Amino acid sequence: MTSKAETLNITDNRTGQQYEVPVADGTIRATDLRQIKTSDDDFGLMTYDPAYMNTASCRSAVTYLDGDNGVLRYRGYPIEQVAEKSSFLEVALLLLDGDLPSKAELEAWEKDVIAAMPVPEHIEALINSFPQDAHPMAMLMAAMAALGADHPEAVDLADDALQRKQIINIIGKIATLGAYMYRHSKGLPFVKPDPSKSYSENFLTMLYQDDKGGYTPDPRLVKALDVLLILHADHEQNCSTSAVRSVGSSQVDVYSSIAAGIAALYGPLHGGANEAVLKMLRRIDGGQTIPEFMEGVKGGKERLMGFGHRVYKNYDPRAKIIKKACEDVFEVTGKNPLLDIASGLEEIALADEYFVKRKLYPNVDFYSGLIYEALGLPAEMFTVMFAIGRAPGWLAQWNEMIHDKEQKISRPRQVYTGADERDYVEASAR
Ligand code: CMC
Repeated sequence: MTSKAETLNITDNRTGQQYEVPVADGTIRATDLRQIKTSDDDFGLMTYDPAYMNTASCRSAVTYLDGDNGVLRYRGYPIEQVAEKSSFLEVALLLLDGDLPSKAELEAWEKDVIAAMPVPEHIEALINSFPQDAHPMAMLMAAMAALGADHPEAVDLADDALQRKQIINIIGKIATLGAYMYRHSKGLPFVKPDPSKSYSENFLTMLYQDDKGGYTPDPRLVKALDVLLILHADHEQNCSTSAVRSVGSSQVDVYSSIAAGIAALYGPLHGGANEAVLKMLRRIDGGQTIPEFMEGVKGGKERLMGFGHRVYKNYDPRAKIIKKACEDVFEVTGKNPLLDIASGLEEIALADEYFVKRKLYPNVDFYSGLIYEALGLPAEMFTVMFAIGRAPGWLAQWNEMIHDKEQKISRPRQVYTGADERDYVEASAR
């Protein structure tokens, strides 16, 4: 986006001083406020924005999001079009490189990513060292950090070709790791990726192949999985992406940055929400009535999980696509009665003043858990699915950040609220 030369006039009522602050792309630079001082030794004005409610932390060309109008575009392409026409690995390359690849470029990329899917034996041993009931996200985080130990050369951020190899390695291996977390939790042996299969086919096969080698995923399920991964592939400066950028700004290796993204995604207000949605729907299925549940939500006792978004103040366009994909998957697997409960909750919420007033609409997580469950995945695996889908977005944003000359180590300021200077008191005198 281009910016006109615009300025903002600020009068400081504390001093009567006037300032002219440049405005570019609808933003002012927070550091421009530092000139606004009450005296020479004043530190200068800061902004206070504890949850980054109104702070652009970077300039980014990856994903466009208009939350008021429910618009999401990857590198300019509407999410509805890429979900219908593209594949997950094509979207990954689009996010990373900025344009749709040629046929030859895409084939070479797919070959490279699929060749990177096998994980080393010591990582398999690491997964096996966890208790069988360990949360797969905790294992995924550890395994991602451990992969970094295999690549000490990854600290050389100036070498683009070397970094491209790490990117391919992470996109390839994260799916295998995800499948292995599932196999481990079931006490099943790992299934190696097969270079003749696509990414999503490989993932389903590594999950469900039996010891006789029998399993061919239904192509409709492969397509639905690919769509789900595409829908999760990037979402601009969300909590986990910001974690990846922030940790990466210290110039640590990319594996550690992605492990930080996995940690952020693990939280119930972020990637963990789809797991929480299923638990909520089950509770309602188990006897709690919808009006009773809704009263609890409106009374502030709990949240309607899968509803609301920091940026979307309209229907999340991904939720619409997922709802449709749910129907496609249920054609293969049979209908999950929880879908009716979810649709019922949605209908009531969309007409209820509490939700209307606060602009709370279904988000991507409201329906995604239902598909994952239909694909045979337990709730603990849902966030892992989100992580596999989000990996290309994290990597594209990380890559953009390390090439951005304006980025420095991420280091916010604070408003100090503690005690004034005081003298240390010996233990005997306290
Ligand atoms: N159910 C009921 N009330 C809600 C909900 C909800 N899901 N979400 C927000 N509110 C209310 C909230 O209580 C507050 O009301 P009041 O103004 O009376 O205090 C108002 O709406 C504004 O909420 P907020 O917490 O200030 O909004 P936020 O931008 O900080 O939070 C959110 C965004 C996504 C964390 C929140 O909407 C939420 O907790 N939703 C449920 C969890 C969820 O579905 N998370 C997935 C997000 S999408 C996937 C992802 O990005 O990871």
